[in-house]
Amino acid sequence: MTAVTPVTFDATDINQIATQEGRIAVFIDPEGRLDAGARRVNKLTKGALTRMIEGAKFGKSKAGDALVLAYPVGMAADAVDVVHLPRNASVIQARKAGASLAKVRGTADMLMLAAGLRRTAEIVFGLVMRDYGFEDHKSDPKERAGALRVMCSKPDEVGADAAPLLAIAEGAFMTRDLTNAPANVLTTTAFADQLVAMKDLGLKVEVLDEDALAKLGMRTLLSVGQGSDSPSSVVVMSWNGGTKDAPPLALVGKGVVFDTGGISLKPAAGMEDMTMDMGGAGVVAGVMRSLALRKAKANVVGLVGLVENMPSGNATRPGDVITSMKGVTVEVINTDAEGRLVLCDVMWYAQERFKPAAMVDLATLTGAIIIGLGHENAGVFSNNDDFCKAFMKAAEVEGEGAWRLPLGQGYDDLIKSRIADIKNTGGRAAGSVTAAQFLQRFVKEETPWIHLDIAGVASVKSETALAPAGATGWGVSALNRLVSDMFEKD
Ligand code: BES
Ligand code: MN
Ligand code: ZN
Repeated sequence: MTAVTPVTFDATDINQIATQEGRIAVFIDPEGRLDAGARRVNKLTKGALTRMIEGAKFGKSKAGDALVLAYPVGMAADAVDVVHLPRNASVIQARKAGASLAKVRGTADMLMLAAGLRRTAEIVFGLVMRDYGFEDHKSDPKERAGALRVMCSKPDEVGADAAPLLAIAEGAFMTRDLTNAPANVLTTTAFADQLVAMKDLGLKVEVLDEDALAKLGMRTLLSVGQGSDSPSSVVVMSWNGGTKDAPPLALVGKGVVFDTGGISLKPAAGMEDMTMDMGGAGVVAGVMRSLALRKAKANVVGLVGLVENMPSGNATRPGDVITSMKGVTVEVINTDAEGRLVLCDVMWYAQERFKPAAMVDLATLTGAIIIGLGHENAGVFSNNDDFCKAFMKAAEVEGEGAWRLPLGQGYDDLIKSRIADIKNTGGRAAGSVTAAQFLQRFVKEETPWIHLDIAGVASVKSETALAPAGATGWGVSALNRLVSDMFEKD
């Protein structure tokens, strides 16, 4: 797995600043006085820092931007990175400051002069999250970013604030690595193996193989994977950090390791992007990893349906009718609408087995959500306003775009089948809503439920606030916050 930047925290010792090599970061509140570290840098450079701050470039910069003072005279450092950050900066601005530093530093070591700075842990989080690169398949991989040392007045406190954030970053890195991985490498089996390895972190992990799934009656899930040589499986991860016997939050992820479309084959152009069709399962894995690393005081179960959607002589055909685990019969109109066939069985199983307090499913489910919301927001669907509001708030605080869309009888009518109970597509109109409507057929009345369609946000072609191009890890932060807001109250 791509390693998270090592970070250390120690007490401010401004006597070290002159001889420190690598890069030094200072934070400037344009309205306020220089802190101890900035004053020291200014003195060593005979006022270069104040000249920069008074200059036009800094004047035009925005909160979170970093400007570079290269080869500062009087110092051993290669550069002083001057960050524009108001004292009352928001979490998002602080993270942006960290990301700016990650970009200007490249792979160099960095000393951060944080003195009594607020939101230091959030700055560190932003920096660490942006220090990511997927180099697994480069024969000459880029060097990993160097160490980060944070000098501050209360290193123990800041270190304690940063620890859970670093756990979230590790989870997000797992999500990104999984989502970026090619499908010949990340087969269903390799995916399951990586989840089983998380037993070392104190998670309970159980793999249900094809025989076990057949016994349980997960026929719609199996119908998706039956054209592939890679075996289908469901992996169940449990983290029991909460009160004994308190019903868990259930997270359910679509883990289609590659989506060719099946017999309803996708066109060639862009098909290579379907390596990310396990993004929902990747987020579930990343959240479970973070929860274990930060020893969350909550009960959470994560279930992923791992399959590969391939055409073959024994693949499911359009027109086939399959009986789901719930007993609802499904007419397969289009074998490319496979995600819902995987999720419906796993969601039903999650509710039957765990009687969860609430359930969130994540899936790169529809191309239509990209048409509607682009790459800025995931689509959010829910049967419960309070639960949905709690999630929307968590996503907003974390800067992870999310936009709620409707459900309703009129949309449900679109998936009625002539020959079976329902069909797996509802036509072109409101494609993301009819997909959500399909899933809702498998949600019990009493289960507060959120469906997140992450097809537009799981992996993107250009960089985002905290990630380079490629897999983003969208959702790991918001779901961690949802867990702490709703399930770790005491
Ligand atoms: N995995 C795709 C959705 C997708 C599209 C994810 C683009 C990421 C980027 C999904 O399985 C799919 O193929 N959906 C179809 C549904 C249709 C056949 C009803 C779609 O969106 O075209
Ligand atoms: Mn598909
Ligand atoms: Zn798919």
